[in-house]
Amino acid sequence: MTDTAPPPRRYADDVLGGPTDTERARLAAMAAVCDPTTIRVLDERGVGVGWRCLEVGAGGGSIAAWLADRVTGAGHVVATDVDIRHLDVLAGPDLTVLRHDVTRDPAPAGGPFDLIHARFVLEHLPDREYVLDRLRDWLQPGGVLVVESIVKFPLDSSPHPAFRRAMHSIDEALARTIGTDSAWARGFPAPLQARGLVDVGVSVHLPTTGGAGASAQCWALTLTRLRPHIRELGLADDDTLDEALAALADPAFFDLSFATAIAWGRAPG
Ligand SMILES: C[S@@+](CC[C@H](N)C(=O)[O-])C[C@H]1O[C@@H](n2cnc3c(N)ncnc32)[C@H](O)[C@@H]1O
Repeated sequence: MTDTAPPPRRYADDVLGGPTDTERARLAAMAAVCDPTTIRVLDERGVGVGWRCLEVGAGGGSIAAWLADRVTGAGHVVATDVDIRHLDVLAGPDLTVLRHDVTRDPAPAGGPFDLIHARFVLEHLPDREYVLDRLRDWLQPGGVLVVESIVKFPLDSSPHPAFRRAMHSIDEALARTIGTDSAWARGFPAPLQARGLVDVGVSVHLPTTGGAGASAQCWALTLTRLRPHIRELGLADDDTLDEALAALADPAFFDLSFATAIAWGRAPG
């Protein structure tokens, strides 16, 4: 494989994703940590009754459900994912669930959209710049795009060596298997500015990982899921990973892990 060859796997092949209860729990923990911030940002963008919304890579569907409640009546929400097995209970009069690959399928019916939101999706897609072009094209004039992505800059300063190594191993395992780029969003909101969006802004959410809370649970599940890949790639030894998992289960442990960068912008018109 050359440096420019595509990564051998894609999200939801066998690295992350899938129908298991463990993956459902991981998505639920992610939502518990991140939904309040996402909802605040979407609320500040003015999403309301009558909006047509697209939730890309909807995962467990918590934000799609919140949007459907918000646009109720005249509006509509389309919740897409390559794997809709965690979304099956959601469909209703204001919400359509669609199996859809954002990298290659045609624009979802129901657009152009007043709001397009994608959280923790584009950083995992090697063709993220092309996907961003597509999302931009699917906006209504005046429509709002909100993109959220993990960023790794807090990891290096962790005072806990095993935890720091484990989180870096997650980062490197995702980069080397599916092509995740956890530095891409450090440049936000430039990718939105480059596409001619206006009223652009960016915010960073840096939740505490510890106290055996939802963030710790989410990263423990992610670390456990990625452990075979970490081992295969020789990124960390078992003692280090066991120590990191013990820390994440310890109510007295506190640290920072990945941050979330959130960028938004509006199509002119
Ligand atoms: C880390 S999860 C985030 C889920 C949800 N957005 C959230 O923040 O709670 C990434 C999601 O993106 C989906 N996904 C991955 N590649 C995709 C693609 N090419 N098109 C659409 N969805 C994709 C995965 O199946 C998964 O549900």
